[in-house]
Amino acid sequence: MLNYPSNLKHERIRTWVEEMAALCKPDAVYWCDGSQAEYDEMCSRLVKSGTFIRLNEEKRPNSFLALSDPSDVARVEDRTFICSVRKQDAGPTNNWLDPKEMKARLNQLFDGCMRGRTMYVIPFSMGPLGSYIAHIGVELSDSPYVVANMRIMTRMGAKVWDVLGADGEFVPCMHSVGAPLAPGQQDVSWPCNKDQKYIVHFPEERAIWSFGSGYGGNALLGKKCLALRIASTMARDEGWLAEHMLILGVEAPNGEKTYVAAAFPSACGKTNFAMLIPPKAFDGWKITTVGDDIAWIKPGPDGQLYAINPEAGYFGVAPGTSDKTNPNAMASITANTIFTNVARTPDNDVWWEGMTKAPPPELIDWQGKPWTPDSGRKSSHPNARFTAPAYQNPVIDADWENPEGVPIKAFIFGGRRSNVVPLVMQAFNWNYGVYMAATMGSETTAAAVGQVGQVRRDPFAMLPFCGYHMGDYFNHWLQFGRTIPNPPRIFGVNWFRTDKNGKFLWPGFGENMRILKWIVERANGRAVSVESPLGWMPRYEDLDWHGLDGFSREQFLELMSVDREQWKQEMLEHDELFIKLYDRLPKELIFIRELILSALWRSPEQWALAPEIV
Ligand code: GTP
Ligand code: SPV
Ligand code: MN
Repeated sequence: MLNYPSNLKHERIRTWVEEMAALCKPDAVYWCDGSQAEYDEMCSRLVKSGTFIRLNEEKRPNSFLALSDPSDVARVEDRTFICSVRKQDAGPTNNWLDPKEMKARLNQLFDGCMRGRTMYVIPFSMGPLGSYIAHIGVELSDSPYVVANMRIMTRMGAKVWDVLGADGEFVPCMHSVGAPLAPGQQDVSWPCNKDQKYIVHFPEERAIWSFGSGYGGNALLGKKCLALRIASTMARDEGWLAEHMLILGVEAPNGEKTYVAAAFPSACGKTNFAMLIPPKAFDGWKITTVGDDIAWIKPGPDGQLYAINPEAGYFGVAPGTSDKTNPNAMASITANTIFTNVARTPDNDVWWEGMTKAPPPELIDWQGKPWTPDSGRKSSHPNARFTAPAYQNPVIDADWENPEGVPIKAFIFGGRRSNVVPLVMQAFNWNYGVYMAATMGSETTAAAVGQVGQVRRDPFAMLPFCGYHMGDYFNHWLQFGRTIPNPPRIFGVNWFRTDKNGKFLWPGFGENMRILKWIVERANGRAVSVESPLGWMPRYEDLDWHGLDGFSREQFLELMSVDREQWKQEMLEHDELFIKLYDRLPKELIFIRELILSALWRSPEQWALAPEIV
């Protein structure tokens, strides 16, 4: 018999936890209440066990550093499975195994997997607690690191039991680091399973099983597993969208407020964009953050789309974050923050590549080894992250917890492309926009284990996160556009184009405001643009260049240029994706491809927004 919390009235949860405890055989079961005292106690325990290092209390109050096992540093896409009943429903972009076979494997793996450890019961809400838009999960995990992170990233705690009542719906989330301890065996600071990792989703059952990893999206199951992979299947069934998108508000000097949602692949600038500080010349413009990673979007009674951020914290990429690139992120992590895989300074603060121009003369690197600037290696792992409460963001939007959500006027899609793709364009209409998003390519980053810098198709930035057949997902988006009277405008951006020497052509970060301003004006039916074979584009004179000295028309044209030979190759790659998805591919996309091809064929060899292309 377990020691149930007094307000847990949910028979199914009691039985499930009992069954899971019998399977995993932990030494103890602990029911998280989500209190500050519990969090502090958890952190102290993590310090004692060596998982956490307490950071300098003056410089970084109530903050901790964790260094992971060098083999457990990012999401493992090749070990991530969508186990729908039928293989076709997972589609060719997901790993699949027959659910019966997978369950047999999981039952073996989880049998006794928590020996020598505590099983934590973590009740959490994605979305404001008790709101009609929220979904509840219960994660059973043997990792106190996960407990601490879940308290920041979600609304976690005993109040969830009240919301669930006797029979509320919840997503069961099983998690184990997969490292049982024999009696008397000394634990390591970052337990994980080096040989076996499984991140498994059963979409029909709405259940999640994760084994072997303690890191990020592999282990904080509310995030990618529930709020994207499982939620995307719920959204398909129920007529809404669960997307890998930031949500931000733009306030113009005249007080007009416009919300946009933007999908960029992992480690491609969502957190930066969501917290953008406009350049000085944009006096009176203000950006506010609703979310930095995930958006749930539903049609409202007025026919507009409304978005909420289901998370309560930021699990952001540390390297590259600085007072120059993202001051609001820096302000968000001044206290109450967990850092993972960054370097430590001699006075017990944190540092990572790009935080300051000159590196400190000495550090302890993310593997716990002494480091100096001439060590010839990075001090932080490229996918090192901070976990920080959203309310610490100085530009958090006033409506970020509004259960009604915020009205979305524009969708922006952007990959990391060093060539080929222009700085900004607007899709001619919803279906063109779906095409643009569906065919988006991006160079891979350290956010997933594997080769970095390879261009791959990452439709809607959802390739690793869509819980069903990508062709059905495109269809869902097309259908969605048909059912709303005035759908948001759709845009494509690329901050990452480089010159011959590999230098970024676009200053990026705060300067992205110039592009965002054009987008917002377009979405509100104003700013000027010209037609190109790929979509509507701004001319040099259509953008606000105030206060950006020395950025010439020629530089802009280079950033916007469309090279016909490169686009032939690009269109072949679109086709490759379409052939892969052919059994479920909406035919509209094939027709749009034909239209773009013929437009490209008609245009001059290299055109650059001259008025004659209108
Ligand atoms: P996930 O949390 O993995 O989903 O990623 P994210 O999209 O939130 O990534 P984030 O904003 O943390 O992106 C981090 C990387 O993008 C860092 O390497 C940044 O330096 C880089 N980055 C962000 N914005 C810009 C930009 O405008 N220009 C350039 N060149 N790099 C940028
Ligand atoms: C991403 O990879 O897109 C992330 C980080 O946001 S993780 O939560 O680890 O998936
Ligand atoms: Mn993400």
